[in-house]
Formats: sequence, C-alpha cells, structure tokens
Amino acid sequence: MKRVKKAVIPAAGLGTRFLPVTKAMPKEMLPIVDKPTIQYIVEEAIKSGIEDIIIVTGKGKRAIEDHFDNAFELEQNLLSKQKLDLLDKVQAPTKMADIHYIRQKEPKGLGHAIWCARKFIGDEPFAVLLGDDIVESNDPCIEQLIRQYEKTGSSVIGVQTVPELETDRYGIIDPSSNEGRLYEVKNFVEKPSVTEAPSNLAIMGRYVLTPDIFPYLENQEVGAGGEIQLTDAIQRLNQSKGVFAYDFEGTRYDVGEKLGFVLTTLEFALKNSELKTPLVERMKEIVEEHTQIN
Ligand code: G1P
Repeated sequence: MKRVKKAVIPAAGLGTRFLPVTKAMPKEMLPIVDKPTIQYIVEEAIKSGIEDIIIVTGKGKRAIEDHFDNAFELEQNLLSKQKLDLLDKVQAPTKMADIHYIRQKEPKGLGHAIWCARKFIGDEPFAVLLGDDIVESNDPCIEQLIRQYEKTGSSVIGVQTVPELETDRYGIIDPSSNEGRLYEVKNFVEKPSVTEAPSNLAIMGRYVLTPDIFPYLENQEVGAGGEIQLTDAIQRLNQSKGVFAYDFEGTRYDVGEKLGFVLTTLEFALKNSELKTPLVERMKEIVEEHTQIN
C-alpha cells in the first residue's frame, strides 16, 4: 500500500462571507491571534507526516505564497536588532515543508479545485485539508484519517456530529453500519435541506482520497450551489469501491464564517498566557456594559 505523503489545500475561494476584508486579502490569511488560518492547516499536515503540500490558489492570493517564502529584508532587520524570538516566528512557515502552488483558473467549486491538483498527485493516495476548519486534537485529525486509510485501503472522510438544524451547511453522510468511529456509508449528500438530511454526521473538511477519485472529478456535473462538488464525486466513488467515514477525535473550530471566526479567535486568545488574564478582565467589563439595563 502506498503511503500518504501529499496533501492538497484548496485556497482559491472568493471569501465572500468575509467581504469587504477579503476584497484585497485572501481569507486564508485572516489571523487567529497572530497566525494566519492557513498556517494552522499546514502545521496539521506536517505533524501528520505529509511531505509535500500543494495549495490551489487563484486570483489575489499572492500573500499566501509570500507567507511561506523567505522575507529577506525583514529577517535581516530582526537579526540586526537581535529580535530572535520574532525571527523564529517569521522563519517558521518557510521551513515547514515543500509547498507547491497551482492556480484554479475559474471558481468552479471544490471538486474542480481538487481536480486541478491531479498531475501533482499522480497515482498516490493523498490528503485534502480545507482551510475553513481548524481541528485541535491529541493526534492530528488528518493523521487519524491516514491511519484508517492504512487499515481499510479505501478513501476515508472525516466527519463529526453537528446540530440537526445546521445540516444544510455541510456534506452529510447516510451511514449504514459502524465499527466504533469508522462508518460504512450508503450515501454522501452535499448540503441537503434540514428536513431531508439522512443524519447529522457532517463532513468536516478533512479527507484521505485514493487517486481513483480523479476520473469521477473529471466528468462531475455541477451540483449544489451550481458548483462541481467533491462530495458528489466521492459518492460516485463510494458506489463503485466503498468510501468510509471516520468520526475523528478533537475539537473543530469553524473559521469559515464570522461568528465561528470571532469565537475561535477568543478561544485561542484565552489559551495564550500573555493574553488570557487581561482578556478575561476586559471581557467581563464588556459583557456587563452590554447587559446593563438602562
Ligand atoms: C465544503 C464541503 C462540505 C463540507 C464543508 C466543511 O463546503 O463541500 O461537504 O461539509 O466544506 O467545512 P463549503 O463550506 O466550502 O461550502
């Protein structure tokens, strides 16, 4: 069995949920405290043993490439001032892994973005990590899925339970049977209506896929939202070969929409020893100010 060594991170989306900030700035560069969201994703991939990462970008995404590149003048400046802690932080992203880039020339959806990486992936199993979900766990989320792939030899999709009223925001699975956290799946459905959702186990932006997904992506018709959906191609692969879902361990933070983004920022700031005490104090005052009855 081939080892999972490559990962695709799609980052070509327009970031419309965050406009106007994403007009001239990629949403993947929005910071959670002091690190851009995409750095958390790259770190998870590397901790999971991934050696090569391809980021699928699009128009206006140059800042991502700059972030994972050297910044010669800045580094010299920090060095001359002996600001070595900061120098470490600035250099960390450039040392992370071999990062490659390809552009998705038209915004045709997630399925199409993954298809754009087919030549880079070749005939190997690969990981996909979406930037809208940050997962904190003892064992990195994508590593958990890689282990299940090694056990089953099949594609494995990361899922977690969501509130029933939110099922229309996700790809949802219709499970048939399970062995612990590993599910066999009858159907993968992209963004079903709340009344039609077959379960509340939702796809959470982490996938290990075998390369036989590519022929399905190649001729995939547009689906939900008028886009070429990865979930639809996964369902067709499931019908011929069987694709598993794995209810991974860990806390998932939704940074792909405003409320989730703000809450994630707060939670991560509370985990930061410098920020925790002043933040809690100020938050108490803010809550009081906003709940006072005048
Ligand atoms: C994408 C996938 C969906 C998945 C979600 C997780 O949707 O298409 O199946 O549940 O990511 O974040 P998007 O949020 O890009 O519309």
